Amino acid sequence: MSALETQKRIDELGAWFQNLNLNGVQTAPHHFLGDYPAVKFAGFAQALPNGLTGKSVLDIGCNAGFYSLEMKRRGADRVLGIDFDERYLAQARFAAEVRGVDIEFRQLSVYDVGSLGEKFDLVIFMGVLYHLRHPLLALDLIREHVARDLMLFQTMQRGSSDTVQLEADYDFWQTEMFSRPDFPTMYFIEHKYAGDPTNWWIPNRACTEAMLRSSGFDIIAHPEDEVFVCRVKRECPGSDVTRGTQQAKASLRPASA
Ligand SMILES: C[S@@+](CC[C@H](N)C(=O)[O-])C[C@H]1O[C@@H](n2cnc3c(N)ncnc32)[C@H](O)[C@@H]1O
Repeated sequence: MSALETQKRIDELGAWFQNLNLNGVQTAPHHFLGDYPAVKFAGFAQALPNGLTGKSVLDIGCNAGFYSLEMKRRGADRVLGIDFDERYLAQARFAAEVRGVDIEFRQLSVYDVGSLGEKFDLVIFMGVLYHLRHPLLALDLIREHVARDLMLFQTMQRGSSDTVQLEADYDFWQTEMFSRPDFPTMYFIEHKYAGDPTNWWIPNRACTEAMLRSSGFDIIAHPEDEVFVCRVKRECPGSDVTRGTQQAKASLRPASA
């Protein structure tokens, strides 16, 4: 396919969020964050296994497939990208076709990952959490249904980037920690943030880390401010992990059940 034909197809597929280089043509050359996500990936690419031969990857909120394509380039056997926006999926399918790689892209919400009936060696959950009304539910469902070993995670963060040693419990009359900027906090966006009505919850760093732990992930690397590499914790009865997944299941159960 010539560069001219590639440009025509790129234009037909609507506005692109991810800037990919397809046949020498940039898909989003004017992205407000620059050459995105390539510039971001450059800051933490080394934190992921270089060789993924024999491994399976699930890219949740895959958009135009940047991370799916990167993981395929690292040799992953099976890569599945899911997103609930069919327009982005059409872009991702076109990108994979141009690059000549075999990646499956499927329309699916993160809330429905249980329907996949399959666990993946690496789950990529980048830039989606703050777009969700139910962020903790999504993490619990990922942990319960699709994460076998590693998760690459990113969220927008605001507020303090300090972390503090948390107590296991606090007395009812002890309230001073709620005024501390480093206590786990999520900012709720009722209307819009950065002009985007799909931004719902923005955690500070302590909250990001606490939510990951509480959903059953150990943080094994923090290569960049917003990016965390996690490993699935071994489940033990009575732990927060078990508590979290039980609550996730209960909240999905129809009221009549
Ligand atoms: C900010 S983009 C991030 C794209 C990509 N992961 C990255 O880091 O460059 C958020 C993506 O999440 C998708 N998304 C939002 N809510 C979703 C949901 N409930 N289930 C699946 N995908 C969702 C959007 O369609 C969009 O492609």
